[in-house]
Amino acid sequence: MNFDLTDEQLLIQQTAREFALAELADGVIERDEKKIWPAEGIKKLGELGFMGMMVDPKWNGGGMDTISYSIAIEEIARIDASASVVMSVNNSLVCYLLESFASDFIKENYLSKLTTGEKLGAFSLSEPQSGSDASNMKTIAKKVGDDYVVSGTKNWVTSGINCDYVILFAVTKQGIGHKGVSAFVVDKEWEGFSCGKPENKLGIRASDTCELYFDNVKIPKENLIGEEGMGFKIALATLDGGRIGIAAQALGIAQASLDASISYSKERIQFGKPISANQGIQFKLADMAMEIEASRLIIRQAAYLKDKHLNFGPMASMAKVYASETAMKASTNCVQIHGGNGYMRETGVERLMRDAKITQIYEGTSEIQRVVIARGLLN
Ligand code: CAA
Repeated sequence: MNFDLTDEQLLIQQTAREFALAELADGVIERDEKKIWPAEGIKKLGELGFMGMMVDPKWNGGGMDTISYSIAIEEIARIDASASVVMSVNNSLVCYLLESFASDFIKENYLSKLTTGEKLGAFSLSEPQSGSDASNMKTIAKKVGDDYVVSGTKNWVTSGINCDYVILFAVTKQGIGHKGVSAFVVDKEWEGFSCGKPENKLGIRASDTCELYFDNVKIPKENLIGEEGMGFKIALATLDGGRIGIAAQALGIAQASLDASISYSKERIQFGKPISANQGIQFKLADMAMEIEASRLIIRQAAYLKDKHLNFGPMASMAKVYASETAMKASTNCVQIHGGNGYMRETGVERLMRDAKITQIYEGTSEIQRVVIARGLLN
């Protein structure tokens, strides 16, 4: 067993760390407060090759492994969780899906632009009545001649407003459950497509989330991903990988919470000594460090299994539950260690707590992850 990162992985870690500090740290509190999309940062992430990291260079991707990707997400999330989710969705839900399941026509015309950052992707599975019960969707894609005509409403779509292309899941055959779901790539410019208002969220406020409306949108049949009826399996297989990205995002938030807690507790003097001299604070720091290290190891193991093309779904779910619960706990304790200062927006640590919460919810709630883990044990 080898725990060392390769030279390439170390370089990616250093590059992502320096990039996040230089390009994302400035203004992160204001972007959160005012819901300002990190346009410049996202553009530069594309230029850096971080928007299609795991894709074959044939499609302009970085050809990197999943461990490298998880390291980069962690470093970006450590500074700006909003930017990291945009990066995560584009890499693991959009590019990975297209590379794994789409035709060469789609790879040539869509994937090759998403990997460079020229275009941005979104993943649209959920609907108002179907969140965890993801196959229970009402959006219909009806075959009419050489097109599919789509009508329906999708919701909670990350990057819905700022993206160019959407991976859409819709029902092509009704009454047969998940076997009637198909996946498409949709250009936002097509007639009949519109976005709702940006949602007013608790955290990751600089990323956009919105509803998408399809009013008889014509999708050419070439834009069907895989075969008709394969959409739900494509979604679940893709989410297995996405969960590694969200786990890495949670890890970045947890690490930022520990970093801030260590430096504040050494500076803050109460009763004539730094508060870090108290065991009550030290034990919190120790628990954070322990759980962060454990999260990192599970994430790396899930990434390793994925790169080896082994069954990695349950391990990705373990990584997501463990890292997101660690992020929530670490960020809450970070605010506690900061006391009254932590409760103020200006210190930026209450943002970590708000950002951490979504990692327990999106790309499958912690409860759904436990369902996936238990199924792996019992099957
Ligand atoms: N990969 C491929 N296929 C899979 C699979 C996987 N990981 N897991 C199951 N399948 C297959 C099954 O074998 C089954 O196929 P057959 O009928 O041919 O045997 C089919 O898919 C359906 O499986 P289930 O009957 O197990 O499906 P289910 O309806 O019981 O759901 C679930 C299982 C795990 C609960 C799933 O619905 C789920 O993961 N729900 C959560 C949805 C989710 O994560 N949504 C996130 C939205 S996207 C998002 O958040 C992005 C963002 O903006 C950041």
